Amino acid sequence: MIQRNMQLDEQGRLRHFLSIEGLKRALLVEILDLAESFAGVTEQTVKKVPLLRGKTIVNLFFESSTRTRTTFELAAKRLSADVLNLNITASATAKGETLLDTLRNLEAMHCDMFVVRHAESGAAHFIAANVAPHVHVVNAGDGRHAHPTQAMLDMFTIRRVKGEFAPLTVAIVGDILHSRVARSQIHALTTLGVNEVRVIGPKTLIPTAVETLGVHVFHDLRAGLKGADVVIALRLQNERMQGALLPSEHEYFQLYGLTEDKLAAAKPDAIVMHPGPINRGVEIASSVADGPQSVILQQVTHGIAVRMAVMAMAMGTVPLGEGKAA
Ligand code: CP
Repeated sequence: MIQRNMQLDEQGRLRHFLSIEGLKRALLVEILDLAESFAGVTEQTVKKVPLLRGKTIVNLFFESSTRTRTTFELAAKRLSADVLNLNITASATAKGETLLDTLRNLEAMHCDMFVVRHAESGAAHFIAANVAPHVHVVNAGDGRHAHPTQAMLDMFTIRRVKGEFAPLTVAIVGDILHSRVARSQIHALTTLGVNEVRVIGPKTLIPTAVETLGVHVFHDLRAGLKGADVVIALRLQNERMQGALLPSEHEYFQLYGLTEDKLAAAKPDAIVMHPGPINRGVEIASSVADGPQSVILQQVTHGIAVRMAVMAMAMGTVPLGEGKAA
């Protein structure tokens, strides 16, 4: 059983960042506001602030990653922390060392934060429940469960382009069933108070009772995109699929692939997002991924500032007056 608020300390401040679920709107806004102040740092000639000088952050990635691992590393370095990237395949894990023994050894090296990606849902919570009191844990994606920093960089991107959350209709398209990103986005969007969240996909890729999360379900792509302000395409998570949930990728693209023609159902100024990695010609056409409505690479850039904000807040090193929710 996952404890919902184990990520907060007794004063309600962030100690670990494990999932969006259970966090209050004011805390999410505080992360976005602090990230906004850090976004300027990445544009300076010297792209560093000394907030985490003397701290050691370990990237523990038990599953592959391009964007998340590298932007966490850049974010930590821009906060002046020392960063260790544990190569799991070349570590003692490959010789049978348990996760807890690996953690104990890293703690013995006086590490201050673990950034964890793992194929098992709940792995980051398990680690947070077992670390020493001075160690902080950030979830960089666990199984199908949560990818909270991805959701926050997506919220940051939406706020930067669209301003207010309240009037927005957001459509999430594709493999909702296996997507930790979709789950975290839904919690973030509903907590931040958007007008409507829609999920669009074939019946086999929509979780049972997803409506209880406050979303509307569509199986027809054009109907779901109608009037949307934000369109988020998701990758087919083939590595998490058991059995045949789809006839073929070709047929999937015909029905659910985001093309210029189908995107025309959304508002003319709708933005197109994707957490990456992109499978061109499967869930999105290249003309849309690289087109004028796409903010996909801006999402990647924003990941650095948002991860700086999350790490600084969890470590309790935010300067007074920074990042406070309005
Ligand atoms: N969006 C995302 O998590 O990408 P990576 O798997 O490359 O980190």
